[in-house]
Amino acid sequence: MTGTLYERLGSSDGIQRIAGDLIDRHFENPQIGRRFADCDRESLKEVAAKFFISGTGGPNLYEGKDMVSVHRGLNINNDEFMAVLDDAMSAMEANKVGQREKEEVLYIFFSMKGQVVGQ
Ligand code: HEM
Repeated sequence: MTGTLYERLGSSDGIQRIAGDLIDRHFENPQIGRRFADCDRESLKEVAAKFFISGTGGPNLYEGKDMVSVHRGLNINNDEFMAVLDDAMSAMEANKVGQREKEEVLYIFFSMKGQVVGQ
């Protein structure tokens, strides 16, 4: 294992592909799709990619709000949180992300649960 998680995920191109796939899955996921119905899919893909790139050791591109502020008032529950993790796993498998990298990404997401659920 060498390099930052950002590099091991394929740098900006690789992360853009994974993040784009992840957002497509959210829109099509019957458990959470309605949450995103009023969002612009392409701009959400861009923000998600910037968030991933910044959080995995790449250039610091994310200028959005912190996770509590973004999800405040949405009252997201545990099942919805799990649905997002399922989509993350599927997006990484579809993009042939390595085992070690999948573990690291899932851990990072899981560690944000308290900032997302029940806000
Ligand atoms: C670790 C898990 C999660 C992470 C890292 C995450 C991250 C993000 C990011 C970076 C944004 C974009 C913020 C911006 O536009 O500046 C966002 C927006 C959003 N997230 Fe999450 N999210 C997570 C879980 C969830 C869950 C479980 C749901 C509900 C199913 C959810 C629903 C939303 C919605 C609806 C928006 C759009 C808010 C808006 O633009 O009004 N998120 N999230």
